[in-house]
Amino acid sequence: MATTGLAGDLAALDRFGKDEDGGFNRLAWSVELRRALEWLAETMAEAGLRTELDPAGNLIGRWEAGSGAPLIIGSHLDTVESGGRFDGALGVLAGVDVVRRLRAADFVPARPIWIVAFMDEEGERFGTAMVGSQAIAGELTELPAELEDSDGVTLGAAMAGWGRSPDRLGEARLAQPPWGYLELHIEAGPVLEEGGSDVGAVTVVAGIAAFEVTIEGRASHAGSTPFGARRDALLAASRLVVELRERAVRGNYLATVGRLAVEPGGISVIAARATLTVDFRADAAPRLDAAAADLGDALAGIGELTGTEYRCRPIYRLEPLPMDAELIAAIEAAAAEVGVRCLRMASGAAHDAMVIGRQAPAGMIFVPSVDGISHSPAERTRAEQVEIGAQVLAATVRRLCA
Ligand code: GLV
Ligand code: MN
Ligand code: MN
Repeated sequence: MATTGLAGDLAALDRFGKDEDGGFNRLAWSVELRRALEWLAETMAEAGLRTELDPAGNLIGRWEAGSGAPLIIGSHLDTVESGGRFDGALGVLAGVDVVRRLRAADFVPARPIWIVAFMDEEGERFGTAMVGSQAIAGELTELPAELEDSDGVTLGAAMAGWGRSPDRLGEARLAQPPWGYLELHIEAGPVLEEGGSDVGAVTVVAGIAAFEVTIEGRASHAGSTPFGARRDALLAASRLVVELRERAVRGNYLATVGRLAVEPGGISVIAARATLTVDFRADAAPRLDAAAADLGDALAGIGELTGTEYRCRPIYRLEPLPMDAELIAAIEAAAAEVGVRCLRMASGAAHDAMVIGRQAPAGMIFVPSVDGISHSPAERTRAEQVEIGAQVLAATVRRLCA
């Protein structure tokens, strides 16, 4: 028997962008993402939603019920490279399924309910992040068309394949802010599983400050250049990776170097250049500021020690955002109604909720991630926990739209 409902939709989405390691590759503005959204538009239409792919590449499915501004239920279908099956996808597909559940129960919402699959939440391809949600919120009107991905494809060219243009993102801005925003997401960390909780009610979404650092050394011969005469860019980068970890522990933030490229990359050649990314996370803005200051400090000290020079370019910054107290309470009440254990917790990962939540009250529901793994093909949430998450989301929507 074919699986239907939310589990069936998750299985259907498996067709788009899966690689041989079991990871998903639906990067922003990719063909794989476009095919997935075409399938989603059909699925939304079957659920009775009126669909639109907006100028920022957001797919919006509208249930035009009741009156006033809509409750938006959103998340994203784009992934990091070889990302997981649930990050983002769960929240979008659960939103569509909630519409089906409410319709089946003859529920008549007091206000419109819109399901949104936001474009480019992850930001991995072009170093952008939260493009769709920022455009809808009116915080992003354009992006440079010449931004390039790792294959040299420009953002302008990638968007042209969708009939969209980076200088027209502003046209996605909503005429009025939504009434509220809800997002169901995997925790992407270990807290719920370790504590034996079924769902999380998110209190605050941590912010991100991301940078690209370029360290310039000098290429030279590995056999004939004494240590004292070297200007080794990779040695400097390695020291930076270790020092950032130590400073982060002291400063109570997270620091990750996820990308490191070394040039020229010869076995017998001292590295002339190292380019790396630094991703800082903290749930309060002053600690993100402190992290950025630590980076400058560390680079200056390491430059002196290793005879290298550096440049540091901010990639993006997203401010931490507390979730709305009334929506947190509604999620807790919904969890009690469903009969499951709910834990108040912070989100370490970033989400579209931190953007839309600046325009309207926002709330997030987390479900457990097996072994706390995400941004990996090993990302998993058990079927029964997916179902619990959808039930809590549906119960929260019923409370908010009664
Ligand atoms: C989004 O997935 C993030 O990097 O937090
Ligand atoms: Mn993610
Ligand atoms: Mn996500």
